[in-house]
Amino acid sequence: MTDPVRLTRADLDALPSYVPGRNPADLARELGLPEAIKLASNEVPYGPLPGVPEAVAEAAAGAHRYPDMGVVALREVLAERYGVSVDRIATGCGSVGLCEHLARATCLPGDEILYSWRSFEAYPIIVATTGASSVRVANTAGHGHNLAAMAAAITEQTRMVLVCNPNNPTGTAVRRAELDRFLATVPGDVLVVIDEAYREFVTDPDVPDALEAYGDRPNVVVLRTLSKAWGLAGLRIGFMVGAPEVAAAVRKVVTPFSTSSAAQAGALAALRQADEVRRRCALVVSERTRLTSALRDLVPDVPESQANFVWLPLGDQSAAFGAACEKHGVIVRPFPGEGVRVTVGTPTENDAFLAAARSAL
Ligand SMILES: Cc1ncc(COP(=O)(O)O)c(C=O)c1O
Repeated sequence: MTDPVRLTRADLDALPSYVPGRNPADLARELGLPEAIKLASNEVPYGPLPGVPEAVAEAAAGAHRYPDMGVVALREVLAERYGVSVDRIATGCGSVGLCEHLARATCLPGDEILYSWRSFEAYPIIVATTGASSVRVANTAGHGHNLAAMAAAITEQTRMVLVCNPNNPTGTAVRRAELDRFLATVPGDVLVVIDEAYREFVTDPDVPDALEAYGDRPNVVVLRTLSKAWGLAGLRIGFMVGAPEVAAAVRKVVTPFSTSSAAQAGALAALRQADEVRRRCALVVSERTRLTSALRDLVPDVPESQANFVWLPLGDQSAAFGAACEKHGVIVRPFPGEGVRVTVGTPTENDAFLAAARSAL
C-alpha cells in the first residue's frame, strides 16, 4: 500500500491537542446517574448573568445579518469601564482567539514566543500554528512563573512573552515587585502579553491589576475574557487592551466578524451586572479557601490559588486520580504525570468532589 498523500504540516503531529473538559451528559449516561459534575473547564457554576439570555435571544432575531465588525458599542462600554480609549481595545473569539491574533501580528517563522511551563495548554498550539518557536521556562518549585529565568531567556528572536497571571493550571500568581522588575528588563520591542483570564478572582492585594499597573506601557498588552467570571464561555468573547497600534494590528488580522452578534449583545448585558459578578466571585473565593484547606489534608504542596480552580500536584498519580473522580461522577482535569486541576464549583459540587478525592487518595 502506498503512503497517503501528506496534506498537512508534519510538525503538527508532535503537538498535543487542546483537551476540552469531558461532556458531563456522556459520563452521567455511562454511570447511569441523573447527572455528572463538571469541574474541568474553569467555568463559574451559577448560570448566565441576569439579562444575558434575553439579550442573546433578541440578537438571535437578527441572526441573518452580519454582526458589527467594529464591535463599536461594546468597545465603548469596555473603554468607559476600564478607563482606556476605545482605539486601545480589540475583541476576539475568546481571549484565546486574541492570543492567536497577537502571535500572528507579531511573529514570522523563526521568531520566538516565550512562556512559563506548565501554563495554559493553548499557548504551544498557538505558537506552532503561527510558525514561531516556543521557548518554555520551567515553573518554580512552588508552581509559579520564574520571571528572572524568563528575563534571561529573552533573545534577539523573542517577539512576544506570555505572562499568565494567575497561571492556568496551577493558580499561582506573580506579584507586583517581581513583575515590575521583569518588565523593566524586557526590551521595548518585545511585546509582553499579560493574560488575566482569572483577574476577577484575585484577592491578594500584591497581585497587580495589569491594566492599572502597566496599561500605559506601549509594549504591554492585557488580555481579559468574559468566559469566566462574566459567565459567557459559550458565547466566545474576550478583549485586549494595548497600544493603539497593536490593537489596530490585531483588528486587522482578526477573523472577520468573529465576535458574533449574540456575543456582543450578551457581553453588553453581562457588563451591566458588575455587582452580581462581584457577589459570585466572592462565593467562588470562599469555596476556594475551603477546598484548598480540605485538600491540603490529602495532598501536600497544594499551592495557594488566586483563580477559580485549585492545582493538585499529584505527579504520576494524576491520571488515576482523574479516572477515580469520574467513577464518582465528578469530572476534573488531569495533566498526566504532573497534576490535576479542579475548578471551584458550588458548595454541593465541591462536597461531592471532596468525597471522591478522599476515597481516591
Ligand atoms: C489563562 C487563560 N487564558 C485564556 C483563556 C481563554 O479563555 P477564552 O478563550 O474562553 O476567553 C483561558 C481559558 O481557559 C485561560 O485559562
